[in-house]
Amino acid sequence: MARVALLVVGLALSVSAQYGVPKPQNLPGGTVPPAQAGSEQWLLKPTVFPASRFDARADADLLHEAFKGPLANESVIVSILPHRSLAQRLVIADKYKKYHGKDLREELKEELTGHMEDISKGMVTPLPIQYSKFLKDAMEGPGTTEAELTEILCGNDNAMIRDIVQSYTERYGKRLQADLEGETSGALERLLVLLVQANRDESYLVNNQKVSDDVVALYNGGKVNWHDDPSRLNQVLALRSFPHIRRVFLELSRKTGKDIKDLVEEQFSSGTEDGYVACVRVIQDPQKYFAKVLNKAMEGLGTNDKTLIRVALTRSEIDLGNIKEAYQQKYQRSVIKDIQEETSGSYRNMLTAIFELSAAESEYETGARTERMQLAIALSCLLFCYVVVLPTLIDVEELHPLVDIYFLGLCASLLYTLLCCHIAEFGTEHFDKISGTKPCKLLPTS
Ligand SMILES: *[C@@H]1O[C@H](CO)[C@@H](O)[C@H](O)[C@H]1NC(C)=O
Repeated sequence: MARVALLVVGLALSVSAQYGVPKPQNLPGGTVPPAQAGSEQWLLKPTVFPASRFDARADADLLHEAFKGPLANESVIVSILPHRSLAQRLVIADKYKKYHGKDLREELKEELTGHMEDISKGMVTPLPIQYSKFLKDAMEGPGTTEAELTEILCGNDNAMIRDIVQSYTERYGKRLQADLEGETSGALERLLVLLVQANRDESYLVNNQKVSDDVVALYNGGKVNWHDDPSRLNQVLALRSFPHIRRVFLELSRKTGKDIKDLVEEQFSSGTEDGYVACVRVIQDPQKYFAKVLNKAMEGLGTNDKTLIRVALTRSEIDLGNIKEAYQQKYQRSVIKDIQEETSGSYRNMLTAIFELSAAESEYETGARTERMQLAIALSCLLFCYVVVLPTLIDVEELHPLVDIYFLGLCASLLYTLLCCHIAEFGTEHFDKISGTKPCKLLPTS
């Protein structure tokens, strides 16, 4: 009787194991959660995934081969880099140095030119360093691109901002805050300084009273006056949690009949306005924001390749799939087609590979499912043997206590492995801040 019950429970467990638990949100790169987070259907859709059969040494050798001739074989680079996660590319760079005695970034810099060089170098650079470079670029030369500063600093969580601040100093020998203060002024300068302190509330519970306190303070006596006194607005944008800020935006729109973007546009002008608009939009709905950024980079004559590269590099392992959908919805056009019209050569192929859902994705998904399936089958077989086969072969009653304990131990360890696999695959922990998702690997691959 007990054994039959065990069989039923075991079978139920092994069947449920096949389907796995739903994937919760994970936010590699410590970014703003999507506006729809929490709703059942919402799922972040990256376009670049870790390769499931990954051999860093082989990749390093292939790249080394590709650099041998007088001209680098760029198709080899395109066939490797966009089909690995950033974390995997960094391992390849490690192996490259170890076995070929050269920094892969340096090699790419020497062998490639133009946008192909920029995008390839970025692809083997840790995210905080990439962000530092984007910030530096946005501040360099005459004029500053304020929107890029707030896009990055409003759109990342505390841990990432701390990493960026540290990388910036290591790389450029200067403090990010000092550079921001030098390049901006007034309300926006104060917002940026607050943002680099990385003191945002990261609890995800929204307190209604605190929301209404902020709304009352921002909409003082029925008037918005952020231009003269931006301090409360800055505090809200830099210190409150993302869900809290969204609620404040919503309440403000309800009271004023205007979208938060229009409100900040009315209050500020020129660069300051651009900075605030990017900040509120990236917090309000990051996917829509980036769709718009892409569209702007490609509209009219000429293309802002720096922007295309920035979006491709920073969002591909987070939500580039959602950004593509948002783009399609808003502009009724395919972002990939637009990119292909605007770019050329290997650079075009590289961008296409990043924006297209890579084949690795299905491979990655199937790989994980196969592993779960194998476990489930193993578990079912064990149960079957225990309940049906074993009693026909030996007199189980004699061995009863021992066999039971042994068998239960086996089941428990299998279930435990299964659980660990689930946690590794679906856990909300950032197993690897750089790459985000980490494939579940039960069976060694090579
Ligand atoms: C580049 O490498 C690919 C794959 O190894 C090969 O098929 C192609 O002929 C090479 N192209 C050049 C220009 O060497």
